Amino acid sequence: MTPARTEGVGAVGEVFTVCPASSAPAVKRLMPGLRYDFTHMGSTFFRGEPPLNSPGSLNRQFLYRRLLDRFHLIYPAADADATHALEVALFDYLAGDYDHAVNISNNLHTVRVLLELVDMDGTVQPILDFGCGPAVSQAVAEDLGISLVGYDPSPRMRKAAEFRGMRVLTTDELVVCEEPFAGIIASYVLHLTIVPNELLAAVECLAPGARFAANFHKGINVLEVESLIASNGGCVQLSLTDHPHLRGHGEIRLWERTP
Ligand SMILES: C[S@@+](CC[C@H](N)C(=O)[O-])C[C@H]1O[C@@H](n2cnc3c(N)ncnc32)[C@H](O)[C@@H]1O
Repeated sequence: MTPARTEGVGAVGEVFTVCPASSAPAVKRLMPGLRYDFTHMGSTFFRGEPPLNSPGSLNRQFLYRRLLDRFHLIYPAADADATHALEVALFDYLAGDYDHAVNISNNLHTVRVLLELVDMDGTVQPILDFGCGPAVSQAVAEDLGISLVGYDPSPRMRKAAEFRGMRVLTTDELVVCEEPFAGIIASYVLHLTIVPNELLAAVECLAPGARFAANFHKGINVLEVESLIASNGGCVQLSLTDHPHLRGHGEIRLWERTP
């Protein structure tokens, strides 16, 4: 598959420590060995990795987490908005080289499993790819004869997805969306910081009887999303049998919109 390219990005193999730009002076004081590189979407990227061993609390002010092995995130404790902004900046930066940054065959397989769980009878309405990234799903959907519409908070990811022929919603468009979706998939998205009103806006667009299938990398956020969807009503969670195709994708969950 040809990787989607956006202008001016690309960092295959480089290791970065990333923090909100407003926290950069404090992070630099804590870890003077870090070398400032650039600021992107309000996040400061230092070249190199922090002298920290395991993810968790760095001090009372900051938490530390690693994404995609080589991005070390330092973010203010208990500040979901700042963490979300940091994650979006990171994926936005990565958009042009995403296909090389992840294990793409794994993502393609996960997308296929999720689409097969959601698509029941080749409906004409589109399925929403929530957190579509650069639309690696597009090739799988074409193969299955499914029409997709994407949503991603990262502008460069949206541009890369459009480059692959996907129509993509912005956050502003998603939260006012009234388009009925024949299903929703979320592949390697819900282990990131969840924005409840955006996820619920998507779920509320599910047509009656339509399904939402998601994987949860390392099982992160399963309980949070289960209780978020349960608390809003309108969907029932379906049980999944331990089919071999469901293994190796983190935890998978499936919901159905009640008529
Ligand atoms: C690991 S990529 C997954 C892309 C694609 N779904 C795949 O399977 O390859 C995560 C994507 O989710 C987007 N994202 C980050 N936080 C999000 C959120 N709270 N809601 C929706 N998408 C989010 C990122 O911009 C990024 O494009």
